[in-house]
Amino acid sequence: MTFGIDTKGSYSINSIFNILSNFPLLTYVISFFQDFMIEILKTGPIPQHIAIIMDGNRRYAKQKNIPLKEGHTAGAESLVNVLDVCYRTGVQHVTIYAFSIENFNRSKDEVDTLFGLLRDKLKMISEHEDSYARFNKIRVRIIGNRTYIPLDILHDLEIIEETTKHATSKRTLNVCFPYTTRDEISHSVRTIVSKVESGEIESKNLIDSKLIEDNFYFGSDVPPLDILIRTSGHSRLSDFMLWQSNFNSTIEFVNTLWPEFKFFSMTSILLKWSYYRTLQLEELSIMGVKTDQELKQKVNVLKELPKPPPFVSVTQR
Ligand SMILES: *[C@@H]1O[C@H](CO)[C@@H](O)[C@H](O)[C@H]1NC(C)=O
Ligand SMILES: *[C@@H]1O[C@H](CO)[C@@H](O)[C@H](O)[C@H]1NC(C)=O
Ligand SMILES: *[C@@H]1O[C@H](CO)[C@@H](O)[C@H](O)[C@H]1NC(C)=O
Repeated sequence: MTFGIDTKGSYSINSIFNILSNFPLLTYVISFFQDFMIEILKTGPIPQHIAIIMDGNRRYAKQKNIPLKEGHTAGAESLVNVLDVCYRTGVQHVTIYAFSIENFNRSKDEVDTLFGLLRDKLKMISEHEDSYARFNKIRVRIIGNRTYIPLDILHDLEIIEETTKHATSKRTLNVCFPYTTRDEISHSVRTIVSKVESGEIESKNLIDSKLIEDNFYFGSDVPPLDILIRTSGHSRLSDFMLWQSNFNSTIEFVNTLWPEFKFFSMTSILLKWSYYRTLQLEELSIMGVKTDQELKQKVNVLKELPKPPPFVSVTQR
């Protein structure tokens, strides 16, 4: 059974429910509960930027005894589920580690599969007017060293960036491909040195961390990283967002393999973050530190969760 892809080949979250619709009540309860969870999340502080190392496709394939390619496909389906939770909750930037420059050391076959799969999936979510990214007004950006990408694939990716560029929402999907932080920092340093040489930057004394960040592949209009998630039980960062994960970022290492990381894995991380963020903001306000007014309001709201809709309170009938 394949979940998540409809007959036209484009992704829709609802297709998974189409399959389940043979059991109407079950579908109703699941989607009702999911909407309810998202509504709860929306009452608390919401992270603006989440980054994910989607690890575990290979191990998943091995465990299920299916070809590696199908493991990667299952991973791509997981991604659409997770993106949906994030954007519906109000997260603006989701950054994914699609391909590390180190991955070039894998077999050519697997590299080709990964490149092709990434291209196909991004196409699927952006090709048609009503496909996932365009319908939800999500901008897709490729972040990384493009000189490593074969020209035909690069051409397709640039079309995808172009067609989603005019998204009126702030929702962005940053696809790190092929990326490592060390390459990003080298890129920034090279750019800054040329700007100093050409006189665009007047003095080397103007070089600070902000300037280095502004010259990253990410550019300057990306909010600070709130949560970095790595699935599959490895606790290392593999040269991903090393600069961006500073003391305000939460790092979550979860044991779930990426293809099995779905709605509840994501919402529980969001809930946990929201809870600790609330405590942190309360502490700041007790200490008299002025915080963003909007965030303060949200803290108050979180204390009084909305009353559950009548459906849940069966006993009151
Ligand atoms: C691949 O591995 C070799 C040896 O471990 C290393 O020298 C090389 O830099 C690696 N290539 C990439 C693209 O990381
Ligand atoms: C990409 O990496 C190569 C090799 O490290 C480097 O020569 C090139 O300048 C990089 N491209 C960009 C845009 O930084
Ligand atoms: C970290 O969060 C605190 C509290 O919101 C804020 O004052 C501070 O500027 C943040 N630091 C960075 C580096 O973003």
